[in-house]
Amino acid sequence: MVDSLLSARGLNKQFQSGDEPVPVLVDLSLHLEAGESLALTGRSGSGKSTLLNILCGLEKPDAGVVQVLGETFDTRSTEAGSKADARWGDLRRQQIGVVFQEANLMPALSLLDNVRFRARLAGQSEDGCQDWLERLGIGELADRFPDQVSGGQRQRAALAMVFAMKPALILADEPTGSLDRHTAEAVIGQLFELQTRHGCGLILATHDPELASRCSQHLDLAHLPET
Ligand SMILES: Nc1ncnc2c1ncn2[C@@H]1O[C@H](COP(=O)(O)OP(=O)(O)OP(=O)(O)O)[C@@H](O)[C@H]1O
Ligand SMILES: [Mg+2]
Repeated sequence: MVDSLLSARGLNKQFQSGDEPVPVLVDLSLHLEAGESLALTGRSGSGKSTLLNILCGLEKPDAGVVQVLGETFDTRSTEAGSKADARWGDLRRQQIGVVFQEANLMPALSLLDNVRFRARLAGQSEDGCQDWLERLGIGELADRFPDQVSGGQRQRAALAMVFAMKPALILADEPTGSLDRHTAEAVIGQLFELQTRHGCGLILATHDPELASRCSQHLDLAHLPET
């Protein structure tokens, strides 16, 4: 049997606010096949970034199972945390492309070198890196450093980094949050085109209902359970 791309079951996560536990994710499950896209919506603070962090191993759920690209991460497992962290690390380097809410580029590298570095880390060719910057409308900024460009331009460079690694799964946290409507549409067009062309999975946290409607699945985290 071929595993699905991503499956999460019974995810629970709470944070502490003073002495009070604050439930963020309660018994949440989702399923994504290759070539599918899932929009995560919900008001600010509803847990979109927390869920994305769990789905790429940067945050641990209190309970639940994540199966991704043939690997299983189960909070009931007795496996040492460092081993699971190493498996998550390999997945993020090679197969899961994450675009964070705040673009995280290496400050000492130019935009182009950031993209090249990311491609190399994933075992991909550096040949198309400049092309990705062009397609995202920032080709002429290739030699600038991250602190010499705007937030929206950094966000597009972060997307170019993910595109260049040719991932099996893309997790994007409000990837057009700091872009104007026109630029956002162009960037999202590239994202869906890449997803269709490579048949990768895409999970997108967004406040934009129009964008959410373009995804094949929709998960609304707006309704927190009664506490
Ligand atoms: N490390 C943390 N410690 C304590 N509380 C946290 C932590 N990270 C997130 N939270 C809380 O968990 C809840 C969910 O946060 P999260 O960042 O996942 O929301 P979000 O849906 O991504 O919001 P936004 O749309 O503003 O980005 C919020 O109430 C937040 O304050
Ligand atoms: Mg968020």
